[in-house]
Amino acid sequence: MASHIPADAMVFFGATGDLAHKKTFAALQSLVRRGVLNVPIVGVAKSGMNLEQLKARARDGIEKFGGGVDEVSFNKMCDLLRYVDGDYADPTTFANVRKELGNAQSPLHYLAIPPSLFGPVSSHLGTSGCAKGARVVVEKPFGHNRKTATELNALLHAVFDESSIFRIDHYLGKEAVQNILYFRFANAFLEPIWNRHYVRQIQITMAESFGVEGRGSFYDATGALRDVIQNHLMQVVGFLCMEAPNWEDTERTRDEQVKLFRAVRTLKPTDIVRGQFKGFLQEPGVAAKSTTETYAAVRLQIDNWRWSGVPIYIRAGKNMPVSATEVRVEFHRPPQVVFNEPLPPSRNFLRFQITPRIEIGINAEVKVDGERMIGEQLELLAIDHQSDEMTPYERLLGDALRGDGTLFAREDSVDECWRVMDPVLDAVVPASEYPCGTWGPEIGNDWLLPPGGWHSPQITKT
Ligand code: BG6
Repeated sequence: MASHIPADAMVFFGATGDLAHKKTFAALQSLVRRGVLNVPIVGVAKSGMNLEQLKARARDGIEKFGGGVDEVSFNKMCDLLRYVDGDYADPTTFANVRKELGNAQSPLHYLAIPPSLFGPVSSHLGTSGCAKGARVVVEKPFGHNRKTATELNALLHAVFDESSIFRIDHYLGKEAVQNILYFRFANAFLEPIWNRHYVRQIQITMAESFGVEGRGSFYDATGALRDVIQNHLMQVVGFLCMEAPNWEDTERTRDEQVKLFRAVRTLKPTDIVRGQFKGFLQEPGVAAKSTTETYAAVRLQIDNWRWSGVPIYIRAGKNMPVSATEVRVEFHRPPQVVFNEPLPPSRNFLRFQITPRIEIGINAEVKVDGERMIGEQLELLAIDHQSDEMTPYERLLGDALRGDGTLFAREDSVDECWRVMDPVLDAVVPASEYPCGTWGPEIGNDWLLPPGGWHSPQITKT
């Protein structure tokens, strides 16, 4: 399907699953409320449920996790909803989907199912005629490493061309992440200093104060690097470091992202620290001797004229002291000491908080009142919101319905991100244990310590 043709039906695989329950139905309700979704929605799953039971489950999910039911929009969504119960390996299921699609010419297939089913489901979509004129949205994780991502691509490409494949990374749907790109390129004052001459280092911290929350077996097979760094945080690096995109042109925007990822050096074992929180091995679903990391810190280097020599440190972990994701772009000190202060002025930095609040702060030195030329650091807050108005799923599914692929990961960009991480994905260095509620392991962290140490996200008390 050519991009920008609105979908005239939405088929939703995994309609009774966890993601649907917690996120998708709430997003669909909001899309209906905004008038973006007004086409038949065909839920598909193998659950033995009927349509009424699916509606009840959708209501339950929206009540518990989706901010509450809006009766008018919910009822409209239910009027659009159909349900096909069947096995994903059975051609009859897809014949029934085809029937439900009726005259639809450009359906959107949303695969909210485990990646092992992407291949079989897309192949059945092809043979049943459901893929004609269609596009497909696939959930993360996209592959387990570079090789499996390539294989997955081949399976999807057997049925859909690349312009019809929409790979979801919900970080790209976050307002705060989009604002990094906007803030960089809608202002003139940043560009002259956004490079190796002025930036000393970049730090990105994604801390979560909770553990694996019943997802032990998924997480044991995944680990922090695959779960959030290879995808979500690399997309943040993309927006922070890429050249100006041509936003109106999806492919040229994505070309810029890929160009940046291509310049990121492939990681070596000396570029990573791995940690595992104490008690992980006792989590249900986790192997007794698992070496999976629940904390990872990496150092990236970008080999291009803008960023050469500027280290980018990324750390992500479960059971950390706080839940917050923040980027800190730190600048060099002024070239000369002008004021004879007892301590040198602090380094300026820019702070983008992605969660729990959306904040952009510019930290600068100002003079303290009085006779002496002594300063203190103040933060100029450019924005400061509670959270997204629109959830990432609402934003991204809306884009996919309209056919706008700009905020979806293209094949080559996913491949490049895997290429960067591939040599360090598994236990190339041991995962050192850390107590819950700390900033990761002490062992090893010293040899990957950013200059001046890690900076923890700033938590605004509300
Ligand atoms: C998911 C990961 O993709 O992202 C989770 O599987 C993680 O482990 C989550 O907690 C974080 O997303 P957010 O939007 O809560 O920052």
